[in-house]
Amino acid sequence: MFYFILVANNVFLNILNLLKIMIVLGIETSCDETSVSIVKKNKKRLSGKVICERTLSQISKHKAFGGVVPELASREHSEALHILVKKVLKNSGLTLNQINAFAATTGPGLLGGLLIGSNYAKTLALASKKPFFSVNHLQGHILVSRMEKKISFPFLCLLVSGGHTQILIAKSYKKFILLGETLDDALGEAFDKTAKILGLDYPGGPLLEKLALKSSNVQEKFNLPRPLINEKSFNFSFSGLKTAIRRVVQNGINEDEKSDLANEFQLCITDCLIANIEKAIAFFKNKFDNNYFVLAGGVASNNFVREKLQKLCKKKKMSFYVPKPKLCVDNATMIAWTGIEKLLNGEKGDSLQFSPRPRWGLEKL
Ligand code: KG4
Ligand code: ZN
Repeated sequence: MFYFILVANNVFLNILNLLKIMIVLGIETSCDETSVSIVKKNKKRLSGKVICERTLSQISKHKAFGGVVPELASREHSEALHILVKKVLKNSGLTLNQINAFAATTGPGLLGGLLIGSNYAKTLALASKKPFFSVNHLQGHILVSRMEKKISFPFLCLLVSGGHTQILIAKSYKKFILLGETLDDALGEAFDKTAKILGLDYPGGPLLEKLALKSSNVQEKFNLPRPLINEKSFNFSFSGLKTAIRRVVQNGINEDEKSDLANEFQLCITDCLIANIEKAIAFFKNKFDNNYFVLAGGVASNNFVREKLQKLCKKKKMSFYVPKPKLCVDNATMIAWTGIEKLLNGEKGDSLQFSPRPRWGLEKL
């Protein structure tokens, strides 16, 4: 009886929450993008709408160094954040009082940036007497898929970003089961390092994708390795690939061959992704009665990767979803939306004492 009352109470609270207007301001400062977004939950539906998002990329500042310089990133965040918050509030025509909660990325990421973003959100929350939500960056990448499309839990997910490559089962908005991950370089890192070897600018991922499009090669000629592809585990390894590519380049290649090599790199990494996702789909279907597959993270904005995984899902009768590219790379909309998911689930806010966690896996939410 007690259990019945508890369940009925939860259902009632969920319906009540669904009917409420929820507007959350999110802040993302974990790496080299300063981003602020205001997201509103749609009436009576579990979906959201971006009222206004402004993102300032620091790429031009870090380019000369070939990678993100943490000290420089912190300074840029602290200079840009206030301007962006003001802009977003002005463009949305909202006052601080109309915001229901403030959310910020508190990890994983660079400590300086995490401190700047989360302290700013805490101050806004304190001043306007509204809740503050501490958001895990990876959780944001995964959950933002639910902002535009009805994707129910549990769903299978591949998260591919600059720092992470993981296959997960999202059981709820805050419970994730890790099936496998990279044992060395993350996929975005593999893209960036390969691009650098090929003489491309930072960040190399999108540039490598463009270069690969120039290739007209139909047959592979560089014999790149596909580590762990025949293993039973769901793990990846991409560091050997970079070494193999360096060897090819050191032996001397012309411009046409460079685009062929970029193309083969993409073929190679998608073969690795497909091999593991195929196993993960079989595992997931065996355990759960659901068929959603979500692709998330910065590398998910790559068209070649999107198309290959979409094809695989079609073959395996999985419902494939990947957010639009703008929502795959770092953005504050995913942080604001995660704040909305927390509110929807009756969370009242996190402590203002919550300290950022530069290393913070999804298994410890
Ligand atoms: O998720 P994200 O924006 O930041 C992290 O959380 O790391 O991912 C950044 C990574 C970078 O390594 C970047 O090169 C890669 O995503 N990336 C791409 C593309 N766009 C971004 N990689 C391949 N193709 C792309 N189009
Ligand atoms: Zn990210």
